[in-house]
Amino acid sequence: MNFLKEIERRRTFGIISHPDAGKTTLTEKLLLFGGAIQEAGAVKNNKIKKGATSDFMEIERQRGISVATSVLAFIYKDKKINILDTPGHKDFAEDTFRTLTAVDSVIVVIDVAKGVEPQTEKLVEVCRMRSIPMLVFINKLDREGKDAFDLLDEVEQKLGLRVTPMSFPIGMGYDFKGIYNIWEKKLNLFSGDNKTSISEGVEFSDLSNPELDTIIGETAADTLREEIELIDEVYPAFNQEEYLEGKLQPVFFGSALNNFGVKELLEAFIEIAPSPQPKKAEERLVDSKEEKLTGFVFKIHANMDPKHRDRLAFIKIVSGTFKRNAPYLHVRTGKKVKFSSPNAFFAERKEIVEESFPGDIVGIHDTGNFKIGDTLTEGEALNFKGIPSFSPEHFRYVNNADPMKSKQLYKGLDQLMDEGVAQLFTLEMNGRRVVGTVGALQYEVIQYRLEHEYGAKCTYENLAAHKACWVEPENPKSDEFIDFKRVKQRYLAKDKQGQLVFLADSEFTIQMTQNKYPSVKLHFTSEFKK
Ligand code: G4P
Repeated sequence: MNFLKEIERRRTFGIISHPDAGKTTLTEKLLLFGGAIQEAGAVKNNKIKKGATSDFMEIERQRGISVATSVLAFIYKDKKINILDTPGHKDFAEDTFRTLTAVDSVIVVIDVAKGVEPQTEKLVEVCRMRSIPMLVFINKLDREGKDAFDLLDEVEQKLGLRVTPMSFPIGMGYDFKGIYNIWEKKLNLFSGDNKTSISEGVEFSDLSNPELDTIIGETAADTLREEIELIDEVYPAFNQEEYLEGKLQPVFFGSALNNFGVKELLEAFIEIAPSPQPKKAEERLVDSKEEKLTGFVFKIHANMDPKHRDRLAFIKIVSGTFKRNAPYLHVRTGKKVKFSSPNAFFAERKEIVEESFPGDIVGIHDTGNFKIGDTLTEGEALNFKGIPSFSPEHFRYVNNADPMKSKQLYKGLDQLMDEGVAQLFTLEMNGRRVVGTVGALQYEVIQYRLEHEYGAKCTYENLAAHKACWVEPENPKSDEFIDFKRVKQRYLAKDKQGQLVFLADSEFTIQMTQNKYPSVKLHFTSEFKK
């Protein structure tokens, strides 16, 4: 198969949702369709159980599983589908944000009864900011839930999306009969009372056909006709260009658990979802069809065995063909590197590959050379954009609890930060180190891993910071900036890249500071330069 065909047939995407909306179940059903797994339950438990915050075995188990499910690849109708796993647990949101830099589109799963939940809002906002094409799957239609139109309204309002229903439920919960597939003009009905068997979709392009009354009953048929008419009037028609530009979001209804509406979703997905897209580097836009290899590290996973401190760096191929043993430039260090055993991922297994194409993810064994965001090329000095750090929500000082092991502690902290476990800030005034995280769980992970992998011990001390603001002065030499630095001295720190950060203790402080020093801009992500 030639290079362009390989690119065209790839679909690399992520599924995002609030925990429990059904992401794991949907992933599994998609894998079943692709023949990548044989039975349901294979991907299950790919999440930290609720209330397991102190259970280290659980964290370790999770780390093990999350390597196995980091990338789930399968072939469906000749399309190579790569699902990038995104942790649902909110404490790992930062991981999910980074994974979103490596996807070409996403599927958003929403629970029909719960509607739009906080974690969905956050993740969708990130996708919206980046104009990532999104499909919405409203799940659990076999249960009593919100009215479909109300839900569509909620999705539009809370998520700021512009939706176009591609299917519509016939009844819900106890009365759930099936779905009218607007996209293919087909009727998909449950057969039997237990809602476990599904009839193949029957062509039904004209809903005024009286046969509809015979099939689903007069009342349901009338309701469906009215609803579809309303949809025609109220919602924009599907337009692929708008979807690809992130301006229109097709919505599907179904039940992942009962495998209902999943095939329709998958069929539409492979047809309309984008193949690998061009990606912005600081220097230029890189097209996936360029023949020279480019790629970037979006995730680093430490080995679970503390005796072997090698890690697996996940590289998304942006352009060109990645070849085993070929020399590539590791742009940040300027070194030439070769990989003798790059891994490709499938469902439940990984294996060494000779070549990979744009859209694919390659796993590289790394002994500590890679950082998240690093770029590989065939020689060009390119740096891919779009792996920003967001402001952490928790801040704690790190204290060394074993003075004999300070070297180990700092090395361990450094490496864990490269993996993206948390963010490290060094206070300008006294050099104390502050670890910032999205969730409290990370502090336990860090403490545990420092001890078990690096033989170092640490304790924490709370720091009453509310947000990290990356500081950008209009003029670094201005009196205003000098005054800002003098007055805020105690709250200034450097991040790992050496960028200046202001650790503000409240929203109020941020506002006051902005009013007082209008020429000193405060940003809430590390990547504010255009
Ligand atoms: P997540 O990855 O988004 O966190 O969600 P997951 O797929 O694990 O689903 C969360 C719960 O919702 C699971 O139940 C799952 O079986 C259920 N579920 C998923 N899709 C549907 C659906 O279409 N209909 C209904 N009724 N339930 C659905 P659980 O009780 O937490 O787990 P389990 O004991 O079933 O494994």
